[in-house]
Amino acid sequence: MKPRTLEIIRDEHSSMAAMLQSLRLMVKQGPGDDPKGFFEVLRAMLFYIDEFPERLHHPKETELLFPRVVKAVPELGVAVARLDRDHEYTEQAVRDVHQMLVAWEMLGDSRRQEFQETLTRYINVYLAHMQLEEQEILPAAQKHLTEADWEELDAAFEENRDPLTGKYQPDPVFEQLFTRIVRDAPAPIGLGGG
Ligand SMILES: [Fe+2]
Ligand SMILES: [Fe+2]
Repeated sequence: MKPRTLEIIRDEHSSMAAMLQSLRLMVKQGPGDDPKGFFEVLRAMLFYIDEFPERLHHPKETELLFPRVVKAVPELGVAVARLDRDHEYTEQAVRDVHQMLVAWEMLGDSRRQEFQETLTRYINVYLAHMQLEEQEILPAAQKHLTEADWEELDAAFEENRDPLTGKYQPDPVFEQLFTRIVRDAPAPIGLGGG
């Protein structure tokens, strides 16, 4: 039996990894001859990250999944402590990245490098974070958690799934945002440039 929670987490990680790769690619390509569209879609992507993974995915891991895993496998305490610190870091970092993007847009290229360095660090931490979860935490959870654990976890993870995994209907208030990201961002997340 494969718990729904683990599938949902892996799906959300895949869509997040695709989003981060598209972000990296867009920034590497630069604004070209459409700075307005470029900054708009980057802002939409960062806003999305703040709304979904940061507000919904991470809290469910930190509050519901990790404590159960540490209880069942205390040796994973060190890894979980690191993952919890990453959650705190990325929550703040995505807002810093957003602020630096606005600085680049408003003040020009003198602020580009600072933005790029901060974004690169953010992306690297994020990818390593998801890898650690997938290699250490999810397999341990699958092996050691009980039916009762999964019932509670599945209910919580089902409740706010990430619409950008492509498997769920987005909330209408976000529909426009997703349409724009998918239309304008480069692959792998979108159909636009690149
Ligand atoms: Fe996480
Ligand atoms: Fe995660």
